[in-house]
Amino acid sequence: MIDFREELRKRAALVEESLDILLPGADAYPPLIHQAMRYSVMGGGKRLRPVLVMAGAEAVGGKADDVLTAACAFELIHTYSLVHDDLPAMDNDDYRRGKLTSHKVYGEAAAVLTGDALLTLAFQLLTESKGAPENVLRVIQEATVGAGTFGLIGGQVVDTLSEGVALDENTLEYIHRHKTGALYKISVRAGAILAGARDDQLAALTGYAEHLGLAFQIKDDILDIEGEQQKIGKPVGSDTKNNKATYPALFGLHKSRAKARQAAEQALAALQSFGAEADFLRSMVNFVIERDF
Ligand code: IPE
Ligand code: IPE
Ligand code: MG
Ligand code: MG
Ligand code: MG
Repeated sequence: MIDFREELRKRAALVEESLDILLPGADAYPPLIHQAMRYSVMGGGKRLRPVLVMAGAEAVGGKADDVLTAACAFELIHTYSLVHDDLPAMDNDDYRRGKLTSHKVYGEAAAVLTGDALLTLAFQLLTESKGAPENVLRVIQEATVGAGTFGLIGGQVVDTLSEGVALDENTLEYIHRHKTGALYKISVRAGAILAGARDDQLAALTGYAEHLGLAFQIKDDILDIEGEQQKIGKPVGSDTKNNKATYPALFGLHKSRAKARQAAEQALAALQSFGAEADFLRSMVNFVIERDF
């Protein structure tokens, strides 16, 4: 049995070391933007997306070290999305990852630009990833789609439009699969593609990540309503407070937990064709629905 939390800690430390090297120095001109980028990226964050990139590579026989740059790129895309998600025009949150949000510290204009800068740097890092050129190009192409209007942005748009509106399950699932699921899917696929995965392996990993992403976001909604996010310095229930489309709002806590468990089981089932090389991915499923942060 894998001690997932210990493994996650080790892998997250590796990612953080690389991020520190790959991000521009805090003194580089103009320092405001480089300090703001570092403020949001460094310290805090579970690093689940970069860890998924690494695990995706390992599941198909590759090495985590070889995909570290790409892994960092996915953490930057994720962090950019958080910086913008917290802005007053969106979720209007004052805390993130246990500290004040970017716009609270640097102002709104700088926070918008910080998000832009992180997203742009992410694609620079993807172009600099190790791997066969056709695989690198494929990862860049998939990342643009996953981060774009048919992925993360699409989910965020429908999430924003749904504030205070009564929703059906299909729309809610669309939001979750896109605002969160898209990046999960592309992260795992990126690691596997760079490591030279076969199509059948990629298809299985895609199914895994889609269900994992859904389970993760349902759990995020549950944590929001349980107020447990206070532990990471986040005000209680910001999505609940903003009248957001959440699973507990539509189904109640009990049924939401059952739905998260069901998605988790489907994620595990998708890995059936893999052996021990996918054990880390398996242990992540349990973590995602049991976590309290
Ligand atoms: C939070 O994601 C935002 C969502 C997509 C729900 P995480 O819970 O992975 O945030 P960090 O990276 O650990 O801070
Ligand atoms: C954030 O979703 C999703 C993205 C940033 C793409 P949430 O708004 O639910 O995340 P939290 O609750 O602020 O972390
Ligand atoms: Mg949001
Ligand atoms: Mg939010
Ligand atoms: Mg949330």
